[in-house]
Amino acid sequence: MAFSEKFLWGGATAANQLEGAYDAEGKGLSVADAMPGGKDRIKIINHPDFNWDIEEDKYIYPNHDGIDHFHHFKEDIKLFAEMGFKAYRFSIAWSRIFPKGDESSPNELGLAFYDQVIDECLKYNIEPVVTISHYEMPLYLVKEYGGWKNRALIDFYVNYAKVLLNRYQDKVKYWMTFNEINSALFFPALGQGLVPSNGSDDKTNIFQAWHNQFVASAKAVKYGHSLDKDLMIGSMSVYSTTYSFDSNPINQLATQQSIQDFNYFCNDVQVRGEYPAFTERFHKDQNVKSSDLEISSEDLQVLKEGKVDYIGFSYYMSATKSKTGDGAKASGNMIMGGIKNPFLKESEWGWAVDPDGLRYALNDLYGRYQVPLFIVENGLGAIDKIEEDETVQDDYRIDYLKKHIQAMSEALEDGVDLMGYTPWGCIDLVSASTGEMSKRYGFIYVDLDDEGNGTKKRSKKKSFEWYKEVIASNGEKL
Ligand code: BG6
Repeated sequence: MAFSEKFLWGGATAANQLEGAYDAEGKGLSVADAMPGGKDRIKIINHPDFNWDIEEDKYIYPNHDGIDHFHHFKEDIKLFAEMGFKAYRFSIAWSRIFPKGDESSPNELGLAFYDQVIDECLKYNIEPVVTISHYEMPLYLVKEYGGWKNRALIDFYVNYAKVLLNRYQDKVKYWMTFNEINSALFFPALGQGLVPSNGSDDKTNIFQAWHNQFVASAKAVKYGHSLDKDLMIGSMSVYSTTYSFDSNPINQLATQQSIQDFNYFCNDVQVRGEYPAFTERFHKDQNVKSSDLEISSEDLQVLKEGKVDYIGFSYYMSATKSKTGDGAKASGNMIMGGIKNPFLKESEWGWAVDPDGLRYALNDLYGRYQVPLFIVENGLGAIDKIEEDETVQDDYRIDYLKKHIQAMSEALEDGVDLMGYTPWGCIDLVSASTGEMSKRYGFIYVDLDDEGNGTKKRSKKKSFEWYKEVIASNGEKL
């Protein structure tokens, strides 16, 4: 099925994973700056002793330097333009604008950087798609306020969001309030600033943090619409297509519940403006007493008034559930868990590759919500080998993306309203879950290794030319 002429083909990144310059021009530290690099990243962060201190004698911190996009953004955006990007999704580092997070006025130098990034996109007719908060909240808000479980953060975030919306309302039409807001169910460190030492083991804190984020998001949406009703402000969550291991009703029911909790809960609040019917059951299953949560009737009104305009979501893999204990444990899906799906191959990081699952996701989300959808992350993290002539023959990546685009096309035929597609890490960057450079997603190779050695030189992979053709033919030539 043909993609519409307005379809937003592009790519996606996040400030903390590519900008570097972590303390330049007044930027404060963010949670990502305190995350050690390496395969044990999640283990270290989930350890009871982890308390957000930066221990340079013990660990390396790849997010500090990223791929130095801060000093290369013109070159990088030029390459995106060469591929024909219609949209570029990036995030604004909150701590570049409010170094501690609780200040009342912003850091002008930080804003000046994003003025340039946005103008550079517009120069090439690339629509900027801005994530207001992508796993990079100011570290100070975690250390001093305890992260998102503290209601005080609502006002800090709204103040920050208003600064961005006021400044960029005429230049940026597409926004997202929080990246992968639902990921906190399994890993609240990145999005909510919660680890065991400041309360992540008590799920009450996670639900309170979510509520505070929902209110903050709704206030930002309402404010954005008051400036310009045509601004498109979306939610953003991980979508995990989830299958039952077998037809045993026990497994089917457990799968349905997991879908409600993970895929629907946050979207229900942000899209429909109210908590879903299964909320009480979800609380109970997570050992949360609803009465312990601070949720006022004014808050519930705010949620109704700040419904999002579209759903942005990431899709990388599917998961398979078995409550009965049948099936072998999945190896790489550290965050979502589950068991191995015998019908699917896995990436080098153990993520189950499942393009049909994307068609399923699109139909499921559109069927439930009937708002436009935007796939703002998708892609294959793989080890790339750079050849002597500086090319990378990444046919495996082309194959992955091609099959997912075919699935999108099928979903269009199914009647889904899909706005765009911005594959993840359109230029190689630091991985969020492992802090590795060697887990590469890009169309553009960056000469940098896991220890931070390399020239940072950019070169085009085979997928660069392929994606250029895909965009030029509006998805016809795959
Ligand atoms: C999403 C995040 O979870 O997946 C990105 O929004 C992240 O920040 C991406 O980079 C891929 O995950 P990873 O761990 O391979 O970088």
